[in-house]
Amino acid sequence: MESDIERAGRLILASKYVVGLTGAGVSVESGIRPFRGPGGLWTEYGEPPMDGYQRFLANPKEYWEERFIKRSGYRKQLYETFEVAKPNPAHYALAELEELGVLRYLITQNVDNLHRAAGSKKVAEIHGNFSKLRCIQCGSRYGREEISLETIPPHCPRCGGIIKGDGVMFGEPIPSDILRICEEETSKSDCMLLVGTSAFVYPAAGFPQEVKRRGGALIEVDPYETGLTPFCDVSLRGKAGEILPQLVDYIKAKLQPGESST
Ligand code: APR
Repeated sequence: MESDIERAGRLILASKYVVGLTGAGVSVESGIRPFRGPGGLWTEYGEPPMDGYQRFLANPKEYWEERFIKRSGYRKQLYETFEVAKPNPAHYALAELEELGVLRYLITQNVDNLHRAAGSKKVAEIHGNFSKLRCIQCGSRYGREEISLETIPPHCPRCGGIIKGDGVMFGEPIPSDILRICEEETSKSDCMLLVGTSAFVYPAAGFPQEVKRRGGALIEVDPYETGLTPFCDVSLRGKAGEILPQLVDYIKAKLQPGESST
């Protein structure tokens, strides 16, 4: 009887363009809470208001005070875990799949920077990166150390526009440069590897559906069923940090020494 890991590995090796889509679940073993389901932040605090961005535009000073100066409640907890979190075996496994030429691109909904920290290069952070700031006018991104907070809200050194955290708020449009990459990579993909996402939030949740609509394959890694389970060709039930290294081992064993899948 072929195991699910073997079925998933064979499907990946038979595919031409594998793209990964990750969510909060891939960072749970790094000590970062998910948003939904058991232990989820929104499960405890309730989903945030859907007009967060409109509130920011109405009063950017208050946004800065709340998020970067006073910082209380779940945000304090969340950002403190981001500051200290380290990649786990799931992040390293995905970086290795990229290195092997098996994973062509990685779309992440996470703002925790852990995929990059694990060595992934071809990464699109569709909801932004907590360690960066972004101008809402010209889209320029800055490291936190590059922008003085003497006056808040700070303004863009390039165009004078208002600067906010790079994290995409509810109600905020996804920055067009990132969205374009995500849509391009999805349009090329014939197999999507879904890791630790409830597939609840759009536009990210729409990417696997598009791959499926075009006859592509879906593989999910999640301890629990998700909204996409019925559409998946293989569902690997368990923790990403335990399952993904096994998947990499299987794929490496199938690839001839020194061979990459491209
Ligand atoms: N390994 C793999 N998956 C896990 C693990 C684990 N160790 N632990 C939990 N999960 C799964 C959960 O079962 C769930 O299906 O990860 C998923 C996390 O789902 P969400 O918390 O909804 O996170 P995500 O899908 O990334 O949310 C999307 O919603 O609130 C917004 O901006 C936020 O980017 C986020 C978006």
